[in-house]
Amino acid sequence: MLAYVLTRYGGADAMELQDVPRPVAGPGEVLVRVFAAGLNPVDYKQREGAVRVITRPRLPLVAGSELAGIVEAVGPGVTRFATGDRVFARVDKTLLGAFAEHAAVHEDFVALMPRSLSYTEAASLPLAGLTALQALRDELEIKPGTKLFISGGAGGVGTLAIQLAKYFGAEVTTTASPRGEELVRRLGADAVVDYTKENLAEVLHGFDAALDLVGGETLDQTFKILKPGAKVVSIAGMPEPQTALKDLAAPAWMTALFWAISLGIRSRAREANVRYRYLFMHPSGEDLKFLSRLVSEGKLEPVVDSSYPLEKIADAFAALEQGRAKGKIVVTMDTRGS
Ligand SMILES: NC(=O)c1ccc[n+]([C@@H]2O[C@H](COP(=O)([O-])OP(=O)(O)OC[C@H]3O[C@@H](n4cnc5c(N)ncnc54)[C@H](OP(=O)(O)O)[C@@H]3O)[C@@H](O)[C@H]2O)c1
Repeated sequence: MLAYVLTRYGGADAMELQDVPRPVAGPGEVLVRVFAAGLNPVDYKQREGAVRVITRPRLPLVAGSELAGIVEAVGPGVTRFATGDRVFARVDKTLLGAFAEHAAVHEDFVALMPRSLSYTEAASLPLAGLTALQALRDELEIKPGTKLFISGGAGGVGTLAIQLAKYFGAEVTTTASPRGEELVRRLGADAVVDYTKENLAEVLHGFDAALDLVGGETLDQTFKILKPGAKVVSIAGMPEPQTALKDLAAPAWMTALFWAISLGIRSRAREANVRYRYLFMHPSGEDLKFLSRLVSEGKLEPVVDSSYPLEKIADAFAALEQGRAKGKIVVTMDTRGS
């Protein structure tokens, strides 16, 4: 089968299209005929080796983090899925495998995809949708009336985070350039700040909670616009000890490493009297079921920036790495995915 393989750590040429053997569904796994797969910044960070200390993959490896397709076979012990089911998944973080015509995925990570969606739309949801859900529901515990700030509302995670935050009843302020303003307003943002013109700390204040999707200077500014004691959850800043303990069940040395690399950020958060947490999302079929139900009820819509055939995946990566996507970039393996 055709697959996009991570051959080594490096630049764009470290990944290549190859003909590789089709995987087999092992115990607890389903074999999915993949029709579409979503791209995420973590895919090029993986290629650059930036997350290898966390995910510890064995190269060469078929890349790709999320997919939609049809179950073609089930492995021993699978109880929840059958041949012919239309499914979507955020695949195992270490094994990967979504950028291929077939992928074996543990059934715990899989859910039936929303009936109303195309495979392309369904493939755009898992990673960004689970990230937004786990941050807003589990970490920030958004309630009706929460005054929430989300940085970077126009991207893959932001477009879903705005909608989920509105679903949980928050009042949402986000940042977008003029290229993304109309989109984030349509998705429900109550207020939009043009980050290319405004300094956040000068125009915003008094937030109960924040979801940071940008990191860097934006995250430092975010600390200054929150009420005392408020919590910031970042997915783009620096991992901290709780990331290792709670999200990764990692060994002590990783907790120590994250403690050291987050010293600066945690001390700036302390100075601003806010709580800082870096979240590393986890795959979950149960949470995908929840997202699927929201889509079916018309409360959540995927936003697809563009799609490319698998043969053109290098072009899809070049577009992703520009960092300007409005919603998600997806590759299709089959005309049913387009
Ligand atoms: N920790 C985790 O588990 C986890 C999970 C998912 C994602 N992430 C990380 O979260 C980050 C966001 O992911 P994503 O998939 O949403 O990225 P993305 O889709 O590539 O984000 C692109 C969007 O960001 C906007 N943008 C760029 N710079 C901005 C800024 N300074 N302020 C506001 N908006 C800005 C761009 O809008 P304009 O073109 O209009 O400027 C574009 O629409 C990435 O770093 C990713 O690796 C982490």
